[in-house]
Amino acid sequence: MTNPAIAAHALRKSYGDKTVLDGIDITVPEGTIFSLLGPNGAGKTTAVKILSTLISPDGGQARVAGHDLTTDPQAVRATIGVTGQFSAVDGLITGEENMLLMADLHHLPKAEGHRVTTELLERFDLVEAAKKPASTYSGGMKRRLDIAMTLVGDPRIIFLDEPTTGLDPRSRHTMWQIIRELVATGTTVFLTTQYLEEADELADRIAVLNNGKIAAEGTAEELKRLIPGGHVRLRFTDPIAYRSAALALTDITHDDETLSLQIPSDGTQNNLRFILDRLDTAGIEADELTVHTPDLDDVFFALTDGTGTPNQPKEAVR
Ligand SMILES: Nc1ncnc2c1ncn2[C@@H]1O[C@H](COP(=O)(O)OP(=O)(O)O)[C@@H](O)[C@H]1O
Ligand SMILES: [Mg+2]
Repeated sequence: MTNPAIAAHALRKSYGDKTVLDGIDITVPEGTIFSLLGPNGAGKTTAVKILSTLISPDGGQARVAGHDLTTDPQAVRATIGVTGQFSAVDGLITGEENMLLMADLHHLPKAEGHRVTTELLERFDLVEAAKKPASTYSGGMKRRLDIAMTLVGDPRIIFLDEPTTGLDPRSRHTMWQIIRELVATGTTVFLTTQYLEEADELADRIAVLNNGKIAAEGTAEELKRLIPGGHVRLRFTDPIAYRSAALALTDITHDDETLSLQIPSDGTQNNLRFILDRLDTAGIEADELTVHTPDLDDVFFALTDGTGTPNQPKEAVR
C-alpha cells in the first residue's frame, strides 16, 4: 500500500471570527482525482491554499506527497503544481513567453525550457496562438495556458481550483479531457468545483464542503445513495397483478392510471432482492422494473442550501 498523495487531518482555518474550515479530513490516493465540491464561499480555495503551502492552517496536520506541510513546505512545493481560481497568465506577453517565464522560475536550462514549452503548447493546442499576447486569448485558451504553465515543473500532484468556472460547454469538455489525460499519466488531481456534473464525470471520490465541514464524502454512487429519492418502479399490464403487488408490498406510491407502483429503495442488491422476494412469494410478475437513483444535484441540495449556512448534517460515507 503506497502513501496517499494527500493526507490531511482536522484542518482548521478562521478569518477573524469567521470559521472557514472547521476541522476537515481529506485523503487522496495517488493517481486519482479527488473533487472538493461546494458552493461559493464554502472554503474550497482556502483548502487549496493550505494544501499548497500558500497559507498556514490554524490547526490540524497534512502531508502532501509524504512531506509534512508545516515542517517541510519546500519539499511539498517541489512536487505540486497549482492552477489557481484566478489566472496566473500575464496578458501583456505571449503564451510562449508566459511558458518560458515559468521554465525560468523552475530553473530549467534554456534548451530544456524551450523543449518543454514547445511540447506543452502542442499538447494544449496553443501552437497557433503561441506568439500572440495572452490578453487576446479566449477563456478556454487562457485556462489551457494556465494548466500548461502549471505542468512546466512536471508536478506529481496538481491542484486545479475551479478550472472550468465560466467556460463554455465545449471548452469545459476539452478541460475534462485534459484532466483525464493527466490522471492517465499517473498525476494526482485535487479538483475544486461548484459543478456536480463535473465531479460526477471526473472524480474518483468527492467531498461536499458545507459550513466548514465535510458534509459527505465518497464516490458519486455512494453519495447518491445517501439521500432519499431512490426508488424502484414496477409497471404492470394486468390490473389484478397490479393490485396484488400493491397488497404484497409496503410503503408504496400508486399510479392507477399507468398501473405502476413506486417503492422507496436505496438501489442496493439486498434491497432489490427483498422487493423481488416479496413479489415471488406472492406469485406476481411485473412487466417492467426500473431502478432510479437520485443524481448528485439531489445530494448537493440535500446537504447544502447553496448559501453556506447549515442544513441537517448527514452521516459521511467512509
Ligand atoms: N484572506 C481572507 N480574509 C478574510 N476572509 C477570507 C479570506 N479568504 C477567504 N475568506 C473568506 O472565507 C470564506 C471561504 O472563502 P473561499 O475559500 O475563497 O471559498 P470558495 O473558494 O469555496 O468560494 C469566504 O467567506 C471568504 O470571504
Ligand atoms: Mg474559490
